[in-house]
Amino acid sequence: MADVRITATKNGPYKVEGPIDLFYEGQRLPAKSPAFLCRCGASSTKPFCDGTHSRIGFTAAAELFPDSKE
Ligand code: FES
Repeated sequence: MADVRITATKNGPYKVEGPIDLFYEGQRLPAKSPAFLCRCGASSTKPFCDGTHSRIGFTAAAELFPDSKE
């Protein structure tokens, strides 16, 4: 079983659980588990989610293509 679990939350960020090392342009970012990573592209604290997805009405692709759900 994998040590890291990544969950695409419903119309929200990726929830990353487990021991992770997160880097941006070669610089290590402070990250604790769970980490919530933006997938809507609108966060002002990228790569982290800041809740903007709710305000902009982000809809995840999985909602548009139900067959892609697990
Ligand atoms: S997923 Fe939350 S701000 Fe982008």
